[in-house]
Amino acid sequence: MSQVVRTPRVFSGIQPSGGLTLGNYLGAMKRFVDMQDEGIETIYCMVDLHAITVWQDPDKLRHATRELCAGYIASGLDPEKSILFNQSQVAEHTQMAWIFNCVARMGWMQRMTQFKDKAGKNAQNASLGLFGYPALMAADILVYHTTRVPVGEDQKQHLELTRDIAAKFNHDYGVDFFPITEPVIEGAATRVMSLRDGSKKMSKSDPSDMSRINLTDDADTIAKKIRKAKTDPEPLPSEVEGLAERPEARNLINIYAALNEQSVEQVMADVGGRAFSEFKPMLAELAVAKMSPISGEMARLMQDTAEIDRILTSGAARARTIAAPILKQTYEIVGMVGA
Ligand code: TYM
Repeated sequence: MSQVVRTPRVFSGIQPSGGLTLGNYLGAMKRFVDMQDEGIETIYCMVDLHAITVWQDPDKLRHATRELCAGYIASGLDPEKSILFNQSQVAEHTQMAWIFNCVARMGWMQRMTQFKDKAGKNAQNASLGLFGYPALMAADILVYHTTRVPVGEDQKQHLELTRDIAAKFNHDYGVDFFPITEPVIEGAATRVMSLRDGSKKMSKSDPSDMSRINLTDDADTIAKKIRKAKTDPEPLPSEVEGLAERPEARNLINIYAALNEQSVEQVMADVGGRAFSEFKPMLAELAVAKMSPISGEMARLMQDTAEIDRILTSGAARARTIAAPILKQTYEIVGMVGA
């Protein structure tokens, strides 16, 4: 088979499995918007099929999928410029995932730390879908011949697996068909940490709501959570090296830098030597200014869920026009009759 011409293409996804956090926003959504505005083709998915690898109440799943779409748009994604859709409306994802289930090796999947974390001690009771999840994620990416995937740090291992699957498929069938995708994990906030414990990732599943900023939090709540964020007694250092043993300080500085679109070095030059009692109000003001318009706009968009559904359905139709021919070619390569 002749070499495929690679169109630069961005794909990423977020699970509609509950609330969105500042971690999702800075690690993913804000960067999705930056890439959209670079003029590359951008495809952003609400990965509902991933969400059901752990139990989801159906009504809550529907709500979370629409709310995620509202969050995407409120953050600056434009459904005309980017393709926005929910995964289950494009069957090519799961069809491709089956092929990849047959390419990926058990040993590769067993090394996935996210499975180990999510399955916990009772792995025998985890769903088969949770175990196979990274093959579906590889399918999400490769069914569009995606070249770049913006994600937070925690998805790095899954993206390495995606590259392994692409390379093994190409090797086994003697083709140069799937691109070896570039993970894009960059910026000051690729790993936003809990506001209560700088060694833990900020997560929607943390039992303490004070550990995270939710995209739906109002201005007062955002300011209160920052005021109460865990810190240490020292003033802020002026050099990045001074943050090495200070996870909470580092996290707040990273958040500030990402929200203010500055480098960590620039922020440190401005705030070095200040006490947290001075820095926290600066951060709270910035976070409120950047985040509360998003929650307001999300609430407004959620008043018209029919419009959201229309956006998702029309995005799915556009996504299918890219995915269907790539799946068809894959079937031909694999030897499916009638493809
Ligand atoms: P999910 O839904 O857990 O998270 C969505 C995105 O948000 C990023 N993120 C964070 N970034 C920085 N700090 C944090 N505390 C933080 N928490 C979450 C994640 O890194 C991610 O980029 N498997 C994926 C969803 C997925 C996907 C894909 C992503 C399915 N198919 C294809 C890219 C391409 C996941 O569970 O993300």
